[in-house]
Amino acid sequence: MRKKVTLITGVSGEVGLALVKSLAEAGKNDLLSLDIRPIPAEYAQYSEHIQGDILDKSLLNRLVSEYEIVSIFHMAALLSTRGEFTPVAAHQVNVEGTMGLLQLAAEQSEWRGDPVMFIFPSSIAVYGMPDLETKSQYPRVREWEWNYPITMYGCNKLYCEMLGTYFCSNYRQLAVERPQMLDFRCVRFPGLVSAFTVPSGGTSDYGPEMLHAAAKDEPYAAFVRPDTQIPFMAMPDAVAALLLLSQAPKSALNRMVYNVTSYSLTAEQFRDQVMKSFAGAKIEFKPDPKRQRIVDTWPADLNDNDARRDWDWEPGYNVERSFEEYLIPNILQRYRN
Ligand code: SER
Repeated sequence: MRKKVTLITGVSGEVGLALVKSLAEAGKNDLLSLDIRPIPAEYAQYSEHIQGDILDKSLLNRLVSEYEIVSIFHMAALLSTRGEFTPVAAHQVNVEGTMGLLQLAAEQSEWRGDPVMFIFPSSIAVYGMPDLETKSQYPRVREWEWNYPITMYGCNKLYCEMLGTYFCSNYRQLAVERPQMLDFRCVRFPGLVSAFTVPSGGTSDYGPEMLHAAAKDEPYAAFVRPDTQIPFMAMPDAVAALLLLSQAPKSALNRMVYNVTSYSLTAEQFRDQVMKSFAGAKIEFKPDPKRQRIVDTWPADLNDNDARRDWDWEPGYNVERSFEEYLIPNILQRYRN
């Protein structure tokens, strides 16, 4: 008998670490994690970890021969700024990596006679507003609006949303009579902010970076203009959204891809929040034209009405609670020594 497992890819990344901890603390003891990096020692207790590459087909074959995979949280990705430096690698990891896992999930579904649940984090980066005037005219975008990404990462995520939807609805069904292969569910996240980790290679990173720099008493130059506005979310809400969506009855879901968000801030407002707790923080703005261009195409806010309606999504952390109850106390503790 193969052991039934929930697979988490990209576990050593920002969302992966928070997710594996929270799933384990909620009592899930069937977690199998995969990452090209080792799992940090303090998280090792939460899952059985395999260090390896999602692009390694023989590794994926070995996984399905040893385990019965019942659901997949596919968190592995190369983010938007990093993707512009290594676009081919971004495509390989973000698209080919996802394709390999979708195929694995489809095969497992067929073998089990029951669809594997595939949870996929997408991003605000799938949007591409043509200019700042449009961005201010359409501040809260719906899922189907402005799907014109300018980054490799945004293109990759948008295509993988479509691939997942295809695998769920039509894979092998347009040619022959076949049952539904998998249960694909996706959230589009805004910029995520964690008290415990700093993201790497993203373009929304100026928010978390200014906060962590202030806590470490280091000067920081944000790479965007003060008036740059995008939505953000505290990491516990990001994990809550993934869990809530995975627990929703399939019959309640009217879409496969849902916006979720919490609060929208300009970079200046983000700095003001940081300064409330770190009054002496040395934060300045030195826009980098290339990264600025990317953020300028992302909407100022997301409309997440459908997630609220279909699976009772509601962020637990508004801006005040996010800073006062989650970010600041945990960050203070983290850098205390
Ligand atoms: N935080 C991501 C990035 O900046 C967006 O999903 O690339």
